[in-house]
Amino acid sequence: MPKPHIPLEQIRAEVEACRKCPLADGRTQTVFGVGNPAARVLIVGEAPGKNEDLQGEPFVGAAGKFLNELLAVAGLCREDVFIANVLKCRPPGNRDPRPEEIELCTPYLREQTRTIDPEFIVTLGNFSTKFILKTEVGITRLHGTLQKAGRFKVFPIFHPAAALYDGSKREALENDFATLGQLLRESDAAAQSAAADETAPGAAAAASSAAPAVAPGAAAAGTLSVTATSAAGGAPSAVAGEPAEPAIDQPRLL
Ligand code: URA
Repeated sequence: MPKPHIPLEQIRAEVEACRKCPLADGRTQTVFGVGNPAARVLIVGEAPGKNEDLQGEPFVGAAGKFLNELLAVAGLCREDVFIANVLKCRPPGNRDPRPEEIELCTPYLREQTRTIDPEFIVTLGNFSTKFILKTEVGITRLHGTLQKAGRFKVFPIFHPAAALYDGSKREALENDFATLGQLLRESDAAAQSAAADETAPGAAAAASSAAPAVAPGAAAAGTLSVTATSAAGGAPSAVAGEPAEPAIDQPRLL
C-alpha cells in the first residue's frame, strides 16, 4: 500500500521545529519553500542564502531575480511552480552543504516532492542534481538533458547564481529554460492527443498520422529560437527534432 502523502502544512511545521543539525542554531528562520502546492514543476535549489534566511522564502536575492526571468523564458512564473531547496536552513557564510546536513534535511524535500507530486523536477546546480538523481555526474555534463528519478522527469540546469559569477553560463541557462518550456508543451500535446484517442480513437489516429501533435521540425523552426543551440548541447532529442530518439535519455541514472 502506498504511503499517504503528508500535507504540506504539516511538513512545514516539522521543518520549523527542526533542530536536527547545528544549522538550526544559526538561522533566522527556516526556508520551507514557496509556490503552487500542486505544481507541475518543482524547482530545487541548494540552500538559503542571507536574504532567504531573513525573509523565509527561497530565491529572493540576486539569483532569485534571475530565476524569475528564467522562469519567464519557459513560459512560467513563480506562482506556477513550487520552489524549494535541498537544505532548509542557511549554511554559515553560504558555504556548501555538508553530507551530514543533506542526509538529515532531505527527508523534508522527499516528503514535499511526494505531496506536490510534480511532473518535472528542475534541479538547479550540483547539490540538488546529485541528490535527486543519486549520481556523481556533474551538472556541466547533465544540464539540459532529461532524466528520470522514479516516476518524475528530472531536468538538471546550472544554478542561476553560477551565471552571476560566470557570464558564459547565462546562455546555457536561458537555453535550458527554453527547452523546459518546450518539454512542457510537448507533454501537454501528448496528453491532449491521448485524451483525443480515448474519446474518438478512429478520428484521433487519422489526425495524428496527418499532423503529429508535436512536429519536431516545426518546434525547432518555431517560437523557440534557442532550440537548435540547446539541442547541440545535448538537449533531449524530442526537442532537437529527431523523432526516433526517446525524450528521456537512456540509460537512466537511477
Ligand atoms: N540559492 C539557492 O540555492 N537557494 C536559495 O533559496 C537562494 C539561493
